Amino acid sequence: MTPTPSDADDPLSWAREHTPILRSFQDEYGETRPLEDYTVAFASHLEPKSGVAIETLRAAGAEVLFTPSEPQSTHGPVVKELDARDGITAFAWEGMTDEEFDAAQHDLLEREPDFILDDGCELIAKVHADHRDVAADVIGGGEQTTAGITRLEAMEDEGVLEFPVYGVNDTPMKHFFDNVHGTGESSLTNIAITTNAIISGKDVVVCGYGYCGRGIARKARGMGAQTIVTEVDPRKALQAHMDGHRVMSMAEATEVGDLFITATGNREVMRKEHFEAMQDGATLANSGHFDVEIALDDLEAMAEEVTTPKEGVTQYQMSDGRRLNLLAEGRLVNLTGPYSQGHPAEVIDTTHAMMFIAAHDMLAGDGDALTPGLYNIPDRLDRAVAERKLETLGVSIDEMTESQRAYGKEWEHPDSSF
Ligand code: NAI
Repeated sequence: MTPTPSDADDPLSWAREHTPILRSFQDEYGETRPLEDYTVAFASHLEPKSGVAIETLRAAGAEVLFTPSEPQSTHGPVVKELDARDGITAFAWEGMTDEEFDAAQHDLLEREPDFILDDGCELIAKVHADHRDVAADVIGGGEQTTAGITRLEAMEDEGVLEFPVYGVNDTPMKHFFDNVHGTGESSLTNIAITTNAIISGKDVVVCGYGYCGRGIARKARGMGAQTIVTEVDPRKALQAHMDGHRVMSMAEATEVGDLFITATGNREVMRKEHFEAMQDGATLANSGHFDVEIALDDLEAMAEEVTTPKEGVTQYQMSDGRRLNLLAEGRLVNLTGPYSQGHPAEVIDTTHAMMFIAAHDMLAGDGDALTPGLYNIPDRLDRAVAERKLETLGVSIDEMTESQRAYGKEWEHPDSSF
């Protein structure tokens, strides 16, 4: 039998099949439609998995306005499919320039959303900077990235936040799985596919040993690489050391690394002084924030010739003949490379479930009304998503007995031997 390509009719079908938590929300909230009276803005990398999150918000009754969180990662067929549906409007298209991306986000905000689910805090920052009248009426928001949380903390410190925002990134259900496993696996997969080079046996330098860096380093070692970690935080550096990675300064690492992967959320982690010392053929990739972790201006200024020997690879030839290979133009390698599909669907399922729950809780949940500020997702919600994830996996766990619960509350243990 000749197979029928089912994604030709529905580009979300494969992602939907692998996002069981969101499917279960569609079934459950499709009946009760708790978000019926609300307009929810959704910013993310626009590919099939985000498409399933968008259709889940719509299934729960919300009118959904969506925009990219990074202009280069948009999948045109996904945008077309969603935009054609009633109650969903796209402020996005494939191949947007940075200027068009900005303009589309402003257009979306003119539509006065009640809730903003963001990925990098661009939309939330813009509504505060340029649409203050709209911001005044926003009920709340959710943010799913580390870099976005950093911006929100800065906004909170300045006292400018106009509405409460759940820091979805900071929940155990997000950073233990999405950042560690999702970024770890998808970054290495995309680097391997883009370069068609082996990772095993290479000296792989991971810059930053936070959640993402830890995942990348652990998985690179699992593939047979010799792993090196650079850090600025002494505790993270020590943790990397105890986990069995070599820890060194960036100046030392530049001389030995074959493949460099940044995951710091910081800017110019690799810059001129490092490019000057790198080996011929070194490969540079960024899995952290936007396109700022590798100093692209320095590379441009230092290169005598710039070529694209392979799709997704920009080669900078230095005056001394060394060639440095930059992947995905220094943007997120797991999301914007030519073969990138982002995180595995099963991992994003959890993250998007947390985003959905953030919106549901503030708009239609039984929690207390929150004043403007950045909040952790309540533990009860995080646990609820974990329980649902286990359910979809068919995994059972134990419950504490009454006596165990009571034991945990006793401070004077009668059976203690000390
Ligand atoms: P994190 O805060 O847990 O870790 C960042 C680490 O980088 C920290 O340990 C910090 O000390 C270190 N660091 C900061 N500046 C440094 C420097 N100059 N050199 C070496 N180390 C430095 O953050 P997390 O969750 O690991 O996220 C890292 C970045 O990855 C963020 O920008 C986040 O938005 C992004 N991210 C990317 C994803 C993707 O799909 N590519 C997914 C999730 C997060």
